[in-house]
Amino acid sequence: MALESIVRADRANNEVDDRDFTSLRPKSFAEYIGQRELIDNLKIAVQAARERGEPLDHLLFHGPPGLGKTTLAYVIAEEMEADIVCTSGPALERPADLVGILTNLKRGDVLFIDEIHRLPRIVEEYIYPAMEDFEIDMVIDPGPHARTVKLELSHFTIVGATTRAGLITGPLRDRFGFSLHLEFYNVKDLRTIISRSAGILSTAITGEGSESIAFRSRGTPRIANRLLKRTRDYAQVMRRDAIDEITAIEAMDINGVDEAGLDRLDRNYLNVIIKQYGGGPVGVSAIAATLNEERDTLIDVVEPFLLARGFLNRTSRGRVATAHACRHLGFTRAGQKELPL
Ligand code: ADE
Repeated sequence: MALESIVRADRANNEVDDRDFTSLRPKSFAEYIGQRELIDNLKIAVQAARERGEPLDHLLFHGPPGLGKTTLAYVIAEEMEADIVCTSGPALERPADLVGILTNLKRGDVLFIDEIHRLPRIVEEYIYPAMEDFEIDMVIDPGPHARTVKLELSHFTIVGATTRAGLITGPLRDRFGFSLHLEFYNVKDLRTIISRSAGILSTAITGEGSESIAFRSRGTPRIANRLLKRTRDYAQVMRRDAIDEITAIEAMDINGVDEAGLDRLDRNYLNVIIKQYGGGPVGVSAIAATLNEERDTLIDVVEPFLLARGFLNRTSRGRVATAHACRHLGFTRAGQKELPL
């Protein structure tokens, strides 16, 4: 496993994860905007664990990318006054990778495993006793002299994140004390997030400017912050004093984001279904092949928002573009381009 694939944010050493968007991330429950029900549940769990002086139960977050699963892992570690170690399912190639991390954890530490649905099966089997009994059976001297030794682990907390809850095996899912779904954010919460981020970036923005970006952010804070940064660049170069509605709309137009928040890939995806496959139904692999895109990218990144906003239906026979999608892209239901009146 590559060393860079583990990120340790060690309170004692004051090391921090310095990825670009970190400074915009909320660091505590008090700073976190949106996902109210989920946050209220987490607050109770954290307070209860802290009052008992116990580590938190293992937690699983699921939902589309960019909604704050990693951010929440950091918030939880902060609220528990714990250290956090970050890795991902695909980075843990061999049981020894996992064992190396687990044996270094202290009581109360948070181990964040992103894309936990991609944990190799052989590694997953080691994680069951670690999660349940805080011990692992190590096989040493494989072959005729094989012996197993039991390693005792400190009582730690796994925070797992996945964009595909359906791919998590039953035994792994059952070992999480909490299974929490992140929903797309509403425009009001995104607007508040954009205003907060603009403050951190020392960028002047009007209420209408924040709202225009919020409307086009696909319900996703990561996209909202990215569009804010692109709009900030545009406002600076165009010598605008503040990001107002016009500036925001112009900036998003040149970045290919339309009034419904669809980007080029979203529109290409819908165009393929409508134009090449008569509106569907069509399998996602065929769409991926036509677009020359990864099937997983379409399933994880593109489809959840299109489904949530009524642009797409998923049927047993494949994907179908809705009448709403056809209207949005200027097609008749039969896939003909609508003629201007
Ligand atoms: N930045 C990104 N996501 C956020 C959130 N949920 N609350 C506050 N700021 C954020």
